[in-house]
This record gives sequence, structure tokens and C-alpha cells, in this order.
Amino acid sequence: MTRQFPRLFLLLAAIILTAGCAKLTLAWADIKPSGPTARPDVLGVFADEDPVTSPEDWTAERAPLLRAVLEKEVYGTFPDKSSTRILDKRRLNDEAFGGAGVLEEWTLTATASFNGETVEARPFPGLDGFLLEVVLPAEKEEPVPIIIMETFCPSWEVAPDPAIWRPEDAGEMGGLLGGVMTYVFGRYICTPPFEMILQRGYGVAVLYPQSVPDRRKEGLAELKRLSQGHVDDRTRWGAVAAWGWLFSRAVDALDQDPRIDRDGLIVWGHSRYGKAALVAAAWDARIDAVIAHQSGTGGASLNRDKKGESVGAITSAYPHWFAQNYEAYAGREEEMCVDQHMLLALIAPRPALLGNARRDVWSDPNGAFRAAQGADPVYELLGSGGLSQQRLDQWRPEADIAFWLRPGTHGVVKEDWPAFLDFLDAHAGN
Ligand code: GCU
Repeated sequence: MTRQFPRLFLLLAAIILTAGCAKLTLAWADIKPSGPTARPDVLGVFADEDPVTSPEDWTAERAPLLRAVLEKEVYGTFPDKSSTRILDKRRLNDEAFGGAGVLEEWTLTATASFNGETVEARPFPGLDGFLLEVVLPAEKEEPVPIIIMETFCPSWEVAPDPAIWRPEDAGEMGGLLGGVMTYVFGRYICTPPFEMILQRGYGVAVLYPQSVPDRRKEGLAELKRLSQGHVDDRTRWGAVAAWGWLFSRAVDALDQDPRIDRDGLIVWGHSRYGKAALVAAAWDARIDAVIAHQSGTGGASLNRDKKGESVGAITSAYPHWFAQNYEAYAGREEEMCVDQHMLLALIAPRPALLGNARRDVWSDPNGAFRAAQGADPVYELLGSGGLSQQRLDQWRPEADIAFWLRPGTHGVVKEDWPAFLDFLDAHAGN
């Protein structure tokens, strides 16, 4: 049973998500911002602190305060200290993806410290650490920007090169399971278009975030083990924070490699990993850009005036994703002193793409748009353009908050990656 886990899990996830989302796929997100905008003003009076009037106030006072409150109320507490070690880097293939890239496999270990207690992250079963599959464009002299992705599918299915490590009993991705996954969630749900990405000059680093398992019981147990020095159950970190933290451990490793552009560290995630990508960027200033596709509740979409998944729905289905405090806001979202536009504001002035689909009402594109509007004043304060569209369907890849809305439902489809790359190209060298 355990050995078959990834395949069964993916199939089950496909069925549950299809069933869960089916009732919402007949609905459409409004393309004009709709609903009340009663989100707290990100620069206004907050926790008895005066309004923010300068970039210095934002950076020194308000941003750390918002991080602390978001930790307490939504994501849980981050480690006081962390460390990452590269155990091994193996060159696997000099002519990967039709010769477009070189493929390496890195093994990393990481520790988290809470109140002086340091614990090492769980290695991948059968290995000494967790794996980062690194693909760089072939024959590039200068350092390249890199897209760091966390994925639902195991890395050996994301980057289907026979040289990549895989458990002996891992089944092949294709067949019925692959067909179901790509039929339901789009052709790029597991494997991004590597050739296209490499040809456009970007590297890719694939991290399968199973060091923190995405399962209620095992996930909660591992989060607790990693944060032994943190005694308060209500504010213990959830998996979204821990996956965000794992993005930063990949950054620790990639940041040291001269082949990688230190000003081109991009995090990418879809859905639950879109939430994690936003959290990573909001907490880690080394991250230069974020692509959060259909991140929904606990990601880019406001908790207030929700059209799709409510706080109650997400915290009861996924109790291991957030701090326990978050669930107390089920049905009383209006009472939250924070909301998700504050998460987006913490990424300013760095470019953020918020990906959406018109029929993916579960992840509430309209709520994400209104969150982007709420974060915009911080982009402006920090001297960047922020959001430059008035409606959800006016795609502006060059904007610092670029809002992507396509037809269709939840997944990563043919049109998505060209849009993501246009956004990155538009911001290259910023
Ligand atoms: C569920 C969950 C969402 C999440 C999604 C995913 O639908 O309700 O919050 O974003 O899974 O990760 O695919």
C-alpha cells in the first residue's frame, strides 16, 4: 500500500478534486471586481500602530508586524533559524530534454530551529536527504534565472528522464492514471514544458515537498516533530508554511551556484503549492519573483466575501495546512485583522503573477483580484507599478502584479506556461 502511494494518491486526488469542484465548474468568476472591499487597509492604522507613510516605515515596522500576525493567525510560526547542506550533486544527463538542457540531481538536508531546538527535516525514504532535480539550459555561458517548483507529482514523474532517482517500485506515470490526471487537470499538471522553458533561457529546479507529507496524520506529526521547541499548538506551523520554508532551503542551495543568476530566483506553485510559493516569497527576500497559479484560499484569495472554498471548508479538509488559530475564523472571516492582500503586499515590489481560470470558482479569482487591489498601495509606495488592470481579463504580463485569467477550470493547461514565461521575460533584468 505505502509503495503504491504516489499513484494511488494522485488517482484519488484527481477523483476527489473533480467531484469536489464539479459543482462549481458550471459557475463563472465575474470579470469585474465584485463584492464588498471591506479588507483592512494595508497601510492604515493596524494593531494600534500609526498609518505607514514611507517605504522605510513599511520595511522596518509594518512588514515585520504583518508577518508576525499572519504567522499567528494563519500560517503558524516559522523557525527562528534554518540551515541547508548540499550532500551531493550528481550530473545525470548532458543532453536532457532533446539536448536543450543539462540535468543534475542534488541531495539536500535541512534543519529548523525553534527556541533553540534544532531538528533535521525527514529525508526521502531510502535516501540521506531530499532531492532537488536541477535542469539548466545547455551551452549558456552567463548565469541563468531559475524557476523553483514544488509539485504534486513525484520529481521522477515531473522530469521524466530515466536517469532521475526513483524508488524501485515506482510505477510508470503514463497509462490510465496519467490520462486521468492530464484530462482533468491539463497537459502540464505534472510535467512542465521543459524544452520551451529551457529555450526561453530559464533553468528549472524541481522539489517534491514530501519531507512534509501532505497527509493529515503524518503531516501533523512531522510538523510537530520539526518544531519541537514550539510549545503552542494553536500557533504551530502548518504544511503551507513548511512547504514555503522548503522553497527557501532550495534557494539556500541554488544561491551558491555560480551558474545561477542570484537576481533570477523565481518560485512557482500550483494550487496548494501556489499558496506555499506566495508564503515563501513573502518571508524570503532573496526570492525575486513568484508565480502562484490558482492558489485560492490561504493563498491569493481574500478570506472575506468568499465565492469558493471557505475558511471552514479548507481547515476541516486540510487541518495540517495551517496554524490551528485559522480555523477559529470559520464563519467569522470579517473579524480577521489580517487578510490575504497583506500576504501579497509582503512580496512588493517584486513581480508576482496570480494565475486564475474563469470557471475555477473554488479558488475564487475575484477574491484574488480584490486582494491584488488591496496590495497595490504597497507596490506604489515602494515605487513599482503594481496592478495595472481594472478587470480580471486585461492580462498585462509586464505589470508587477500580473493577473492572468483564462477560460476553463483548475489545472495547468496549454495556455498557462506561455503566459508564465511572457511574465518572466517582461520582468527579466529588473
Ligand atoms: C483542494 C483545496 C484547495 C487547493 C487544491 C489543490 O481543492 O480545497 O485549497 O488549492 O486542493 O491544491 O489542488
